[in-house]
Amino acid sequence: MRSDRLKTGVLISGSGTNLQALIDACAAPDFPAEIVLVISNRADAAGLERAKRAGIAVQIIPHKEYPSREAFDAALDMALQTAGVEFVCLAGFMRLLTPGFVDRWRDRLINIHPSLLPAFKGIDAVEQALAAGVACTGCTVHFVRPEMDTGPILLQAEVPIAAGDTAITLHDRIRLAEHKCYPEALRLIAAGKVAVNEETATVTN
Ligand code: GRF
Repeated sequence: MRSDRLKTGVLISGSGTNLQALIDACAAPDFPAEIVLVISNRADAAGLERAKRAGIAVQIIPHKEYPSREAFDAALDMALQTAGVEFVCLAGFMRLLTPGFVDRWRDRLINIHPSLLPAFKGIDAVEQALAAGVACTGCTVHFVRPEMDTGPILLQAEVPIAAGDTAITLHDRIRLAEHKCYPEALRLIAAGKVAVNEETATVTN
């Protein structure tokens, strides 16, 4: 294993299939990032077991135990710093982060969202795409800015909507696309191939 791999923290709230895709990618000896900490705000997040199975340190930081969003985010920040985290991936993390936290991790914080942003922001992106009757939706990896589901877009993948799709069948297919995009995004960043200039992310060679 390389010793110069980008020390990455992953924040989850649920099943953690995207976390698993990142774990699997990081298992390759030449992958330029490693996951050093997984944090969940929910003790019952299935993704915690995925991390433990892979021998990755986990921490549960229940948001309900903090008096404010600022206090919760300060605890997140402290845990990340203590673990030596250099870069953060949100992977189904269901809390809106404060501007203070987002600014502190500016351009070192990415998210994956199940639509082709800027279309269908918010928690029900898959349902919104179905309701809108679009032929195609997908997923987006973007750097995080304080406003929800905004920020420089790094990668997107299209997923066609099939006749008879439900939110579940469509989200399942979007997840398959996400599991390719998210590790690829982290690989590009950790290899130093991504430049962020204000609101634009560019892949360089
Ligand atoms: C993904 O669809 C992601 O785009 C969204 O939350 C979902 C997380 O799924 N932000 P999982 O926990 O990685 O399976």
